[in-house]
Amino acid sequence: MGLRGVSIIGIGSTPFGILEGRTLKEMATVACNEAIKDAGVERSQIQAFYIGNYIAGMILGQETIAALVVNSLGLNREIPSTKVEGACSSASIALRQGHLLVATGVYDIVLVAGVEKMTSASTEKVTQALASSIDMETEGLTGLTFPGYWALIAQRHMYEFGTTIEQLGMVSVKNHNNAVFNPRARFRDPTTLDEVMSSRLITDPLKLFDCCPVADGAAAAVLCAAEMAEDFTKKPVDIIGIAQTTGYSSLYEQAQLVTLPATVSAAKKAFEMAKLKPEDIDVVELHDCFTPAEIVDAEDLGFFEKGKGGWAVEEGITQVDGRLPINASGGLISKGHPVGATGLGQAYEIVKQLRGEHENQIKGAEIGLTHNAGGTGAVCCVNILKRR
Ligand SMILES: CC(C)(COP(=O)(O)OP(=O)(O)OC[C@H]1O[C@@H](n2cnc3c(N)ncnc32)[C@H](O)[C@@H]1OP(=O)(O)O)[C@@H](O)C(=O)NCCC(=O)NCCS
Repeated sequence: MGLRGVSIIGIGSTPFGILEGRTLKEMATVACNEAIKDAGVERSQIQAFYIGNYIAGMILGQETIAALVVNSLGLNREIPSTKVEGACSSASIALRQGHLLVATGVYDIVLVAGVEKMTSASTEKVTQALASSIDMETEGLTGLTFPGYWALIAQRHMYEFGTTIEQLGMVSVKNHNNAVFNPRARFRDPTTLDEVMSSRLITDPLKLFDCCPVADGAAAAVLCAAEMAEDFTKKPVDIIGIAQTTGYSSLYEQAQLVTLPATVSAAKKAFEMAKLKPEDIDVVELHDCFTPAEIVDAEDLGFFEKGKGGWAVEEGITQVDGRLPINASGGLISKGHPVGATGLGQAYEIVKQLRGEHENQIKGAEIGLTHNAGGTGAVCCVNILKRR
């Protein structure tokens, strides 16, 4: 079956951070209303709604979020509303479901969103909830959590390729310094390598500044058939590559510790669909939940040879003025990682870049990529977006 082109015609986002007093429902409503207004669509034109969320059931006791938000937005109750979950990839799955419905011609206009409220719970409770994406019959029984998971990968990457602790720290410095410009970021103070290196040890070799913080936030987008996009906006952004793949639910099952197979396969599919190569990408938002993740992901996406990612950071290639700017938004490390919202938060940042409207603008950016990984690399979504 031939698929139709699909465009993003509207985007919305709350800031990511400690949004005290703002509820899950309110944040999702704000982001969706902004996206609807930005797209210039009538509420009655929206034909389906998907929302990503990961841990609200566990930490807030709130489920059936999609219907909750449809009611809050005052959308037509005859439309289907669906929550999707794929750990930290949940919002990207919502985007992909919306894409499929429009691409196959089932609907013309679909609203997609992602939301998470984390900071009202203790770090212990959030850590336990996040770890629920690890296979609880095997590796989960060891007490492994995500800072531990990425510390293991970092140790192996350093052992195999000579990646240095300083190179990990440089990812943090870059992303903190990028977030200075981003009003949606949780941490907007610049930092230095000394400050990163002397921050509190979390799981060796990762320090506090190597870890993304928990955050509250929501993001949303309005999708429509590409042929209709210019009826609504002068600046449509086309989804030219989109893929979701499945990896392992435990680290011990992977053949190698230094690569996430779901990222490799999602990138391959997205690049094939877009008929592009990694060197065609102008700007990237990828899943830097911990500093080694940025290095491993950039290699797995095909931007650098395996083992060379740390050196690419050291050489400044991934800086805003470098050959391949990565996480100009501040990334998960500084912008924050409200897990169920992150994927659409990344899409929001890339759409702003491609419209030429970003606060930390990459000059002349035409094609952008988002990479969003969930759990132990169990889910991965890669999207390639292009300005018209
Ligand atoms: C690293 C972690 C354990 C720290 O939690 P914690 O010990 O409770 O520490 P806090 O969040 O209270 O932070 C302590 C301080 O450091 C600051 N801080 C935390 N992370 C920071 C960062 N990345 N950059 C700058 N400052 C940071 C906080 O603002 C806080 O400052 P304050 O004392 O002035 O208020 C927690 O943030 C964490 O688990 N992160 C990873 C989350 C995760 O796994 N997500 C899914 C990934 S796939």
